[in-house]
Amino acid sequence: MSQDLIVVSNRLPAGDTPSGGLVVALDATLKREGGLWLGAAAEPEEYETDDLMSLPAEGYEKKAFRLNQQEYDRYYLGYANSVLWPLCHRRTDLLAIDRAFAETYVAVNRRIARHIAQAAGPDSLIWVQDYHFLPLAYELRKLGVQARIGFFLHIPFPSLSLLEALPEREIFHDWIAAFDLVGLQTRADVARCLELFRHHPRGEILLDGRVKHGDSVFSLRAFPIGIDTQGFADAAARSDGPSETRFGPGDTYLIGVDRLDYSKGLPNRFTAFGRYLDTREDKTKRPSFLQIAPPSRQEVPAYRETRLQLEAIAGRVNGENARLDWTPITYIHRAFRRADLPALYRMADVGLVTPLVDGMNLVAKEYVAAQDPDDPGVLILSRMAGAAEDMTEALLVNPFDIDEMAEAIATALNMPLAERRRRHAALLEVVRDSDVATWTERFMDCLRRA
Ligand code: ADP
Ligand code: G6P
Repeated sequence: MSQDLIVVSNRLPAGDTPSGGLVVALDATLKREGGLWLGAAAEPEEYETDDLMSLPAEGYEKKAFRLNQQEYDRYYLGYANSVLWPLCHRRTDLLAIDRAFAETYVAVNRRIARHIAQAAGPDSLIWVQDYHFLPLAYELRKLGVQARIGFFLHIPFPSLSLLEALPEREIFHDWIAAFDLVGLQTRADVARCLELFRHHPRGEILLDGRVKHGDSVFSLRAFPIGIDTQGFADAAARSDGPSETRFGPGDTYLIGVDRLDYSKGLPNRFTAFGRYLDTREDKTKRPSFLQIAPPSRQEVPAYRETRLQLEAIAGRVNGENARLDWTPITYIHRAFRRADLPALYRMADVGLVTPLVDGMNLVAKEYVAAQDPDDPGVLILSRMAGAAEDMTEALLVNPFDIDEMAEAIATALNMPLAERRRRHAALLEVVRDSDVATWTERFMDCLRRA
């Protein structure tokens, strides 16, 4: 029997309780509509047959494809996270170009395509998530699959000039064009994608806005992703936060929450906080900065490098400023209980979201949703985050400009209540508009009509 809806994402929610916004939304949609959710097994293993593993899920089927160690190294750590991730995040200096990475990436996608081809009928909707699966529709079409296939890219779409650094740049066009619907985070992403195809000799932008590439035609649209806004706001209002903390309602502090990733601009953020401390007029003011940075992709060398930088800057700033009763930077580089985040956001005076580049950045939206509307904190947001396209009432900063960020911290900490309320109300409206449930519906509606 064929599945009505097939969702593919590299990461499946761990255990039974979905946590991240996207995972919550997909889980709810699949529960409602039924279907199949396919993702990678949690750990690499030396498998003998590549049958899918069934995992527990309510109301739909959840299955995992296996990866052996070599596939994990080349498909996940290699092509996905040492080629596509740095490319799309404008770090061509970090590219690890390797034929074996590209070959295994395509081979894994081909294998997944065979599994999907067995589960899909002509009326199925197939929704592919993110850069791990760029070739999936192309491979599915080769297997004769006629079903509608949608793709959503959670990270920035690369510009024409960046793409020059990708050996697979030519077939990249065919990969994208094999989808029926391509969803990107921002209008700027859509503009970059249009430019790419406009410049290609086989590409053409049709009058109705769709993109033609050779014999393929696909729809292209921005679908800015959001969070479970109300759920997050409720969790923040309900919880008192962790007991035994120096980060409570009476404390003045700034908060940052990011996977430890070079794209998140953490070294510049730490340096900017240090610059703020050096330049603040009233030295009796002693705000703290809480940075939660859970480990991510640690096997990739660039991530280890960022970690060393952070340890050095945090050590220096704390060494130069700490008092017996004050440690300026609290830097947590461990797995962290997600349930503690909403209250920590709510009690923080300032949310620091300063990536050097980011597809959207959900932490910016979570920080806003978690605030008390009567006494909200201030969001400092990088202009380079996709979120900045609509969240224009944040204090927007250039994450490369340390002085500007230090000044923004001073401005945020001194902002009068009326201005905080006004900015927060405007931001909350944006966050509500992009709610993840609406996001899912919009994408699925478009895919049905594609
Ligand atoms: P990225 O997707 O690049 O990691 P985003 O800011 O878009 O960045 O999304 C990060 C998500 O991960 C947010 O929803 C955030 O709340 C969540 N998150 C952050 N820290 C943790 C943690 N320790 N455990 C689980 N989820 C976390
Ligand atoms: C970003 C990517 C996701 C990825 C997540 C965590 O949000 O867009 O596809 O799942 O980071 O990274 P990881 O490599 O741990 O799955």
